[in-house]
Amino acid sequence: MRKSVLFLSALSIITAVALAASTQDDDVLSRARSSQLEFREGNLEVAKPLVKMLEDAVAQSPDNARLWEALGHANMTLQGSMYAGPLDIPGMTAVGERARDAYARSLALDASSTLVKASHGMSQMVVSQLKGDGPGMAAGIDEMNAAVRESPKSIAARLTRAFTIIHLPPAMRDTNAVTEDLQFILGAAPGGRREDVLHVLLGDVYAEMGDLKGARAEYKEVSGASAFAAEQVRSRLTDLEKGAIQPASIAQVRMGTGTRCAMCHAPGTDN
Ligand code: HEC
Repeated sequence: MRKSVLFLSALSIITAVALAASTQDDDVLSRARSSQLEFREGNLEVAKPLVKMLEDAVAQSPDNARLWEALGHANMTLQGSMYAGPLDIPGMTAVGERARDAYARSLALDASSTLVKASHGMSQMVVSQLKGDGPGMAAGIDEMNAAVRESPKSIAARLTRAFTIIHLPPAMRDTNAVTEDLQFILGAAPGGRREDVLHVLLGDVYAEMGDLKGARAEYKEVSGASAFAAEQVRSRLTDLEKGAIQPASIAQVRMGTGTRCAMCHAPGTDN
C-alpha cells in the first residue's frame, strides 16, 4: 500500500516535471513563431537571438523534434539575413550546416513531417551549392522531390522546393517542377501581395523559357495589391516592347524569396 502510494507520487512528480518541460518548450516555440513573423515583416535583427534561444532550448530538451525543427528554420532565417551584409560564404555555409544538422535531429526523432523533410533537402542543397558540391546539390533536390511526391498537396513542401530550386540556372533546373509548384500555390489562392509576387515569379520562369505569351498572361494577373510587383510588371512590359526582359530585374524579384520576406508577407496592401 505505502509502496504504491510512493510509486504513484513519484510518477506524478515525473509527470509534473515532464509537463512543466513541455509547457516551457511550447512557450519557446510560440516565442519562436512570433520572431519568425517579425522577421517576415522585415525585422532582420531577430534572427540571431532566435537561434540562441532555440540552441538553449534544445540543450534543455534534446528529445523535442519540434524544437529542433524550429532551430533549423531559425538558422535558415539567420542565413537569409546574412545576404543583407557583405557576402560571407564560410559564415553562411556554417549556418546552413547548423540548419541541416538541426533538421536531421528533428527527423531522427520524428520522421513524419513533410515540411522538415523538404527543409532538410533545402538546407542540403543550399550548403552544397555554397561548397560547389554538385552531387550534394542533387541529393538535396531529390529529398525535396520526395517530399512533394509524398505530399503533393502540401503548400509548405511546394513553397520550399519552388523557392529553393528557382534560383538554379535554367539548364540545371527542373523547370516543370518549379512551374507546377508555383501554379499549385497560386491555385491555393494566397491573395494580396503574395499572389502578385507569385505571378511575377511564375511569369519570369515562362519568359526565361521563351514562352512570352505565358509570361504576359501571368503579369496581367498582378492586381496591384503589391505596388512592388506592379512596378516590376510595368518595367517588364516596357522591356518586352524593346526586346527581352533584363535578367537583372528577374534576379531582383527572385533574390527576395530568400531574403526580402516582407515583399510578400508585409501586412495589408501597399497600393
Ligand atoms: C513570393 C512571395 C513570398 C515570399 C518572398 C516569402 N513567402 Fe512565405 N509564404 C508565401 C506564400 C504564398 C505562403 C503560403 C500561403 C500563405 O500562408 O499565405 C507562405 C507561407 C509561409 C509560411 C507558413 C505559413 C505561416 O503563416 O505559418 C512561413 C513560415 C513563411 N511563409 C515564411 C517566410 C519567410 C521566413 C520568408 C523570407 C525568407 C518568406 N516566407 C518569403 C509567399 C512568400
